[in-house]
Amino acid sequence: MSQSKSVEIRAAAPKHCEGILKLTYAAFPFEMDTEAAAAASLKTTPLALWKDGVSKWREQRKPVAVAMDRKDRLVGTAVLRPHVGGNGRESSAVAVLARVVVDVKARKLGVGTRLTKRMLENADILGFSQVFASIPDSLSDWYSAMGWTVGEVGQGFAWLERPEPQDDWAFVQPVPPELRGTFAPLRSEPPGPPEHGYTRIAHIATSEKSEVLLDWFFDPSIDLGSERALWKYLVEDPHRFSSIPSQTFHGLYEVLAQAGLMTDVDKRLYRAISGAGS
Ligand SMILES: CC(C)(COP(=O)(O)OP(=O)(O)OC[C@H]1O[C@@H](n2cnc3c(N)ncnc32)[C@H](O)[C@@H]1OP(=O)(O)O)[C@@H](O)C(=O)NCCC(=O)NCCS
Repeated sequence: MSQSKSVEIRAAAPKHCEGILKLTYAAFPFEMDTEAAAAASLKTTPLALWKDGVSKWREQRKPVAVAMDRKDRLVGTAVLRPHVGGNGRESSAVAVLARVVVDVKARKLGVGTRLTKRMLENADILGFSQVFASIPDSLSDWYSAMGWTVGEVGQGFAWLERPEPQDDWAFVQPVPPELRGTFAPLRSEPPGPPEHGYTRIAHIATSEKSEVLLDWFFDPSIDLGSERALWKYLVEDPHRFSSIPSQTFHGLYEVLAQAGLMTDVDKRLYRAISGAGS
């Protein structure tokens, strides 16, 4: 561990970006083409985008950390960013940890653990209460040892967030004024494409004060997998129904009922809970 302490974890500056890209592309080659294409569409380069991003990390809520050895060489990096939902809404509650990478020569010294912890501290500072990461099977124990909950291979991760005024815009129909701000969006993330090897999703709470109402794992290959898993989770203990906003509860039931997925028991439960004014 003494060697690890000779490595310093810092916030990234634009001068580190070239090294960051070299290290991350070596570890995650598939990111190179994706980023080159994204930058080209904006008529810029990945390096220019990164330099801009690290200097605006606070506004964009995308901190980047670097690990520097005693000769001031970059030996590791990690990134945190808000989770982006299907409708483009950036989560204020849930962040994604990405690109944790340590130079092969500096591995097994605790640098990766320190980078990860630093990102969780950043998450807390930026108001995120939960972080998840897509991880390879081989790192399950590493993440578990750091306190993360790791899903099964191929499982997605889903959760409910506290309502934000902007969520009303996700509705196709106008939201009646009395219901505004009472919809907790169901958000989910399936594991990455199997060919990249990131087959598991791990998550961890970073704050006592959770902005996430419920979270659970689900099978993304099943139609309405996240909705079904949420319903199952709620039914296991009907007290859980009271922790979600009524609009979300009714919406969830409607979606599943329309797909013919509600049993008579579910229907009775729904009527009982609705009748009780939940
Ligand atoms: C995953 C990765 C970031 C870990 O970095 P690291 O700096 O080696 O991580 P740590 O040193 O904190 O922990 C790694 C192991 O070293 C061990 N270790 C840590 N400090 C140690 C020390 N002083 N002496 C001996 N072992 C030590 C840890 O117990 C851990 O063991 P385990 O793998 O058996 O659980 C690194 O292997 C990497 O860059 N991999 C490629 C990219 C990648 O897959 N990133 C993850 C994306 S989710």
